[in-house]
Amino acid sequence: MEQKLRNLSQEALTALGAAHTPEELNDIRVKYLGKKGEVTQVLRGMGALSAEERPKLGQVANEVRVAIEKALEERNNRVKEAQKEKMLAAETIDITLPGNRFGLGRLHPLTQVMQEIENIFMGLGFKIAEGPEIELDYYNFEALNLPKDHPARDMQDTFFINPEVLLRTHTSPVQARTMEKMVPQVPIKIICPGRVYRRDDDATHSPMFHQVEGLVVDKHITFADLKGILATFAKQMFGPETKTRLRPSYFPFTEPSAEVDISCFNCKGSGCRVCKGSGWLEILGSGMVHPRVLEMSGYNPEEVTGFAFGMGVERIAMLKYGIDDLRLLFDNDLRFLAQF
Ligand code: DAH
Repeated sequence: MEQKLRNLSQEALTALGAAHTPEELNDIRVKYLGKKGEVTQVLRGMGALSAEERPKLGQVANEVRVAIEKALEERNNRVKEAQKEKMLAAETIDITLPGNRFGLGRLHPLTQVMQEIENIFMGLGFKIAEGPEIELDYYNFEALNLPKDHPARDMQDTFFINPEVLLRTHTSPVQARTMEKMVPQVPIKIICPGRVYRRDDDATHSPMFHQVEGLVVDKHITFADLKGILATFAKQMFGPETKTRLRPSYFPFTEPSAEVDISCFNCKGSGCRVCKGSGWLEILGSGMVHPRVLEMSGYNPEEVTGFAFGMGVERIAMLKYGIDDLRLLFDNDLRFLAQF
């Protein structure tokens, strides 16, 4: 029996030496030391032994059990260590690989143009004024010399909310609001950038678009001041060679009124696709503030005069970047926007 135990021990130790996984080790433990394990079986048979043989064999059995347990533990540590090393080797990270890059955002081309316009006028001493997009008929039309039945109201197809409230069709109401707030002080020298709305939708019109309005009111303001400011703006916006031309026009809130053209920055005036062969590009409307408009805001047109202008930001962006469909500016297609 003792020999049998020693043989089992030898067998178990050999098996352990060949085991490489925790599962194999567990199988070995069960096979020899488990409830029905081989060493356990031998011990069960000890009942048949004589009283002298029993303690001796008990001692041997204990030695064998301890030896196997110790070997199991050692082997278990070795296997675990090997597994850990294997895992570390497999999980090696190549820190020289480039990481995942985040796409960098950029300003929308309209925002860029808007900021450029604002910066130029701020450099000329203008302050920025703002007004509501949901506007009263009074400020959008009446205070700008466009009474209820005025035919020029048709120039701007309007979204009415009710007969007295509308979505502003231009940034000009900020003129009236600013004068009303400032009267009787002068000078006023503001630009008003913002969103405006009209019932229009095609390749060159969007129901929501942006304008920048300008207003200067002071003593002795003349048409020459208007031309000087706008010529300076045009040169800074479109390049130092840019020429400016004023054409007579009509706006109810200015008298006289003028449309401002710049020499085409693409062909320098010889005629091309951008200027449709004319050599000139229309960029804004302007004029001397109508005496009735000054009066309605409380100023005395005998004492102060002013000039005003208004430009479409989308139009300027389209000209500047050669964009031929305005809707591209609102589709939010990154393939388009990433080009600016
Ligand atoms: N409000 C005009 C429009 O939307 C543009 C404009 C023209 C503004 C002449 C002005 C101006 O201040 O003097 O078409």
